[in-house]
Amino acid sequence: MAAQIIDGKTIARQVRAEWKVRADALKARGVTPGLAVIIVGEDPASRVYVANKVKACAELGLHSEHIALPADTSEATLLAKIAELNANPKIHGLLVQLPVPKHIDSNKVTEAISPDKDVDGFHQMNVGALVTGNTRFPPCTPYGAMKLLEESGIGIEGKHAVVVGRSNIVGKPMALMLLQQNATVTICTSKTADLAKFTRDADILVVATGKPKMVTGDMVKPGAAVIDVGINRLPDGKLCGDVDFDSAKEVAGWITPVPGGVGPMTITMLMANTVQAAERAAN
Ligand code: GUN
Repeated sequence: MAAQIIDGKTIARQVRAEWKVRADALKARGVTPGLAVIIVGEDPASRVYVANKVKACAELGLHSEHIALPADTSEATLLAKIAELNANPKIHGLLVQLPVPKHIDSNKVTEAISPDKDVDGFHQMNVGALVTGNTRFPPCTPYGAMKLLEESGIGIEGKHAVVVGRSNIVGKPMALMLLQQNATVTICTSKTADLAKFTRDADILVVATGKPKMVTGDMVKPGAAVIDVGINRLPDGKLCGDVDFDSAKEVAGWITPVPGGVGPMTITMLMANTVQAAERAAN
């Protein structure tokens, strides 16, 4: 039987509506949640992501500031801008779109953002909080993937979850969040020897490798929940995930499409983290 398709667009709309209620409640108390997004340089994909973040703020009635700096901006100038926004009471969430140009140390940038405004959840203090189960800002993409599992009624406790990919933005935090919900977690990479041996044993399979269609239907356990975090552009211009959707959907119990799966959830959870940061600041 073909898998149930997890409709990220519909779930994102529902989740955003829930957070809009919380944002409106704060506004009624005189606090408008505010997000500042800094972009350095002209990377076309980053510009689209940033424009979508600013647009989502407008849709939820949040205040946003879009700071576009030229590619030759010095590290010192960027750090000074971050310090200014850290001190700005109208700004509750602050992020610098990655990657930054090579002459800027991205670690320094991440650590310069106030941990109380770090809505990406990338600051070491927030990474540590996630590790110890005292999460403050769950990183947006894995947070969105967890929300898709929850909204689809897919239980996590006691399940074998396999995460393919070990990035700081997706793979590692995803594994920690699944572990926190009492899954048995295996972390693989695109280089894992006999990867299929692991993926075929996954009740929940999360793939975030950046390699188009690398997980095929024969690597999926019948009935598994498959969460595809990849977004790749093929030579013909079409988008595809890290999972071969057509073969995997014949085996899986649930599967996220690309586009329209995890993608719409990432910015939704950024809005959630921004509203939450504002709630903390207001209380
Ligand atoms: N670049 C790709 N994904 C992300 C993200 O989630 N946050 C930031 N700041 N940059 C990114």
